[in-house]
Amino acid sequence: MEDINISGNKNIVLTGFMGSGKTTLGKYIANNLNMKYADTDESIKRFLESSISEVFDKKGEEYFRDIEHQICEKLSPLDGYIISTGGGTLLYEWNLNLFIRKSLIIFVNTPFEICYQRIINTDRPIATKKTKQELKEMYDMRVNTYKDISHISMSGTVNINL
Ligand code: S3P
Repeated sequence: MEDINISGNKNIVLTGFMGSGKTTLGKYIANNLNMKYADTDESIKRFLESSISEVFDKKGEEYFRDIEHQICEKLSPLDGYIISTGGGTLLYEWNLNLFIRKSLIIFVNTPFEICYQRIINTDRPIATKKTKQELKEMYDMRVNTYKDISHISMSGTVNINL
């Protein structure tokens, strides 16, 4: 990870596994620091007028990743935003390279069990077709990348009721 240059207009970008609390934390920080808030998944849903699971079901992951990249192109030049990204977003270099130019990247490093309990009964397409063991393996692999690509790792749990 390159050194952080805090001067100039910056955004804060949150990354981390599904269920780590990126959205809750992002909204909380935005409300409290009076920053603007954006969310890649929410932007994709609005743009396609469809749920994420529907996009995966009907068009497939490759299509989703393509739209996700287009959304990153729109969000990354903004100023003064806190942006929650999907768990896969910054694992793609073409998205990371867009944000890294002017964003502080924070890894929301939440333990697997907590993420798992939060995602188990949701319709997240990446999670529904996987066993707990498979999700744990995915988590372990991704965590190393999240650490590598972020400026700050935030450990602990996000327990905020908005
Ligand atoms: C994904 C995470 C999801 C969503 C999509 C793919 C992933 O976002 O972008 O289902 O690859 O980890 P959350 O991390 O907000 O669940």
